[in-house]
Amino acid sequence: MSLHGRDLVSIRDLSREEIERLLAASRKMVPIAEGTKVATPLSDKIVAMAFFEPSTRTRLSFEAAVQRLGGRCITIADAGATSMRKGESLYDTIRMLSSYADAIVMRHPNEGAARLAARASDRPVINAGDGAGQHPTQTLLDLATMQEAFGTLTGLRVVLLGDLKYGRTVHSLAYALAQFGSELVLCSPPSLRLPEDHREELRHLGARVSVEEDIRKAVAEADVLYVTRVQKERFGDEDEYRAVAGSYRVDAPLLAGAKSRLIVMHPLPRAGEIAPEVDETPHAAYFRQAFLAVPVRMALLNEILGSGRRGG
Ligand code: CP
Repeated sequence: MSLHGRDLVSIRDLSREEIERLLAASRKMVPIAEGTKVATPLSDKIVAMAFFEPSTRTRLSFEAAVQRLGGRCITIADAGATSMRKGESLYDTIRMLSSYADAIVMRHPNEGAARLAARASDRPVINAGDGAGQHPTQTLLDLATMQEAFGTLTGLRVVLLGDLKYGRTVHSLAYALAQFGSELVLCSPPSLRLPEDHREELRHLGARVSVEEDIRKAVAEADVLYVTRVQKERFGDEDEYRAVAGSYRVDAPLLAGAKSRLIVMHPLPRAGEIAPEVDETPHAAYFRQAFLAVPVRMALLNEILGSGRRGG
């Protein structure tokens, strides 16, 4: 089905066929993202960036995507500089913003905020991360990175390492990988395990999921090592954070036992989980992953805002 005019709040909003179509479209966007080819299908469009939580990659790659396609952006990069400081609600802010722009890309610290924004807006809303909830466009670029490296998303053994409790990128990615038939290995400190509702959903999808607490064993058999940061900002208790901070680290000795084709991914920012020496190895895929954010978000915006028929 066409994505024209649709919201993207959760990765569950996309079928496998729609994801495959977006990934194919994103490959064609690479030369435009690199600036070697010009196309301006969004020349009459304004996209609002409503970021109520810090971001480097997501906001700037969305802005680059809009501008590479000839569109323009209006941006909230600091909630403290908006009238929310005077008590305006998120609902009113988004409702008003939807009369200024053709689509809204929103990040917010509260899980569920993107769903609320989609109700407030009569323009498409794209979730750029809502608390510990979802980050569906990150998942699309994660899948693009794996597909580029392996030519397939089926049959890969993917280790999800780190903060699986609060990490919204893994919450979205695990669901998508299950749809494509890849195997998931969960590797986290005991207090940061994937929440039971996500495990239940993966079981329901028939996903092959296992738990491996020994990081060396997990890495030895992996095709993809997807590393995440401990999400310090989600912890209610500083002691709980301190107990797990620095409890895992990917470095050259660890990767010595890996398959030669292993790729190491990370949504970034990293905060010590991947040693800088890994950057120089053929395993490092995280900076390519960060670049692919641009063509993937271009493909998505082009489908949502382009001239295709309106979806359901
Ligand atoms: N991957 C990601 O969401 O990065 P930012 O927080 O910098 O946007």
